[in-house]
Amino acid sequence: MSGMVEKALVFAKECHGGDNSGHDIAHILRVLANAERILAEIPAADAEAVRLAAALHDVDDYKLSENNGRAEKFLQEAGIDEALREKVLAIIGAISFSKSGSKPHFSRIEQAIVSDADKLDAMGAIGVCRTVMYSAATGRALFEPTEFPAENLSAAAYKNKNRAGNHAINHFFDKLLRLKGAMQTDAGRREAEKRHRFMIAFLQEFFADVEAPEWQSYMDSYLKQI
Ligand code: ADP
Ligand code: NI
Repeated sequence: MSGMVEKALVFAKECHGGDNSGHDIAHILRVLANAERILAEIPAADAEAVRLAAALHDVDDYKLSENNGRAEKFLQEAGIDEALREKVLAIIGAISFSKSGSKPHFSRIEQAIVSDADKLDAMGAIGVCRTVMYSAATGRALFEPTEFPAENLSAAAYKNKNRAGNHAINHFFDKLLRLKGAMQTDAGRREAEKRHRFMIAFLQEFFADVEAPEWQSYMDSYLKQI
C-alpha cells in the first residue's frame, strides 16, 4: 500500500471516529479489502485511485457530518496532482446508492470497483449486522409486522429518517436485496450472489422465528420482481 493511501486512512479514521451507525473505520478497511479482491482481476484499473477513493469514500457522507468537501481538501493538502485528485473525487461522487440508484451507469472502471466494494459491505452477514446496528443507533425498531415496505420509495423519502415503516427489516427490501443487481464487475457479482443468498436465508429464518408467514410470501413475490 502506498504512503498516500496510509495517510488517507489516518485521515478517514479521524473523520469516522466515534461513529456507531455502520460508518466506522472498520467499514472503510473492509471496503478497501473488497476493492483489492476486485482489483486483482482488473489489472488495467488505476489501483492508487481506487484505494484512495475507497479510503475517502464516506468522509463526506451526509449521515456523518455537515461538513462537505473534506475529501477534496485532504487530497489538495496532501499534494496529490490534479489528474489523480479529479479521478478520486469522480469515483467518490459517483458511487452513493442515493445518487446512482439501483442501476448505476459508470463511465470509469474505477468507479465500478469502488461501488461494488462498498455495496458488498452492506450485504451478507456483515450487512445484516450493520443494518441492525444502524437501526439501533438511530432509534428505529427491528421489525414492525404491520408496516410493509413502501413501493417505489423516492430518493427524498429514502433519506427521511422519520417515515413510517422505517424498521430494520424493511431496509432489506428498500435497498439491500436490490444491491446484487447493481454490481458492475465479475468479482463483485460473484461475491454479491453469495451474500444475497445469505440475506434471503437469514430473512427466511427470521420470518419463521417471529411467525410472520405473510412476510415470507411478501418476500417471495418481491424476489420475483427484482
Ligand atoms: P454504505 O456506506 O455502505 O454505502 P450507508 O451509508 O447507506 O452505507 O449506510 C450504512 C449502513 O447502515 C449500511 O449497512 C446500510 O445498509 C445501513 N442502513 C442505511 N440506512 C438504513 C436504514 N434506514 N435502516 C437500517 N439500516 C440502514
Ligand atoms: Ni461506505
